[in-house]
Amino acid sequence: MPTRSEAEEIFAWAKMQNSGSWAEHSEVTARIAETIAKHCNLKPEKAYILGLLHDVGRYEGYQVGLRHVTEGYRYLKKKGFDTAARVCLSHSFYTYLDPDDKFYIDQLKDESDKKLLRDFATKLRNGTAAFDEYDRLIQLADCMARPYGAVTINDRFVDIMLRYDFPDLRAQITGIWRVKKYFDEKMGTDVYDLFRKELAENISKEPSGVMEEGAE
Ligand SMILES: [Fe+2]
Repeated sequence: MPTRSEAEEIFAWAKMQNSGSWAEHSEVTARIAETIAKHCNLKPEKAYILGLLHDVGRYEGYQVGLRHVTEGYRYLKKKGFDTAARVCLSHSFYTYLDPDDKFYIDQLKDESDKKLLRDFATKLRNGTAAFDEYDRLIQLADCMARPYGAVTINDRFVDIMLRYDFPDLRAQITGIWRVKKYFDEKMGTDVYDLFRKELAENISKEPSGVMEEGAE
């Protein structure tokens, strides 16, 4: 794991390469993950760092599909930050990823990216890899983070629907609601209770997907 200052340094560098809305989204993801972690016996600093770096592969600029996932993984892995690298890979899969998937994996241009995701999906299927609580925490925080602040999963997915043509949205929304339920039960209260005021303030904001091609 990088320290907080190492993570902030990497993030600042990535933001300089590509200053898109992904950066504000990542800062919000980090804050949401840190806040939830404080309330359910997880490490807030670790949650913050993983949230801040989960989309670091966006430094490349806008790329189709899951390229930011594989690039973020490689970039952090090269620096020796295995846990943060793994979260780059895991944050997009709230549901089971089929190693024979014909959408998410096949849309990648690079064969080594396809292999990386297929190998990861195979490990998840055969049980040699599994999501831990931090993978799940960042999946949830990512699904509540817009560049301007925390939103409900439903609002975040309206934005995702407007920007991307995912073939399995029903499964994805159901999957992330299950993740939220896990943290609701772990905390003994609704995760949304930690962000009520902010969620209410943001409820009336238009999804940015209407206005711009972006990447979060
Ligand atoms: Fe994200």
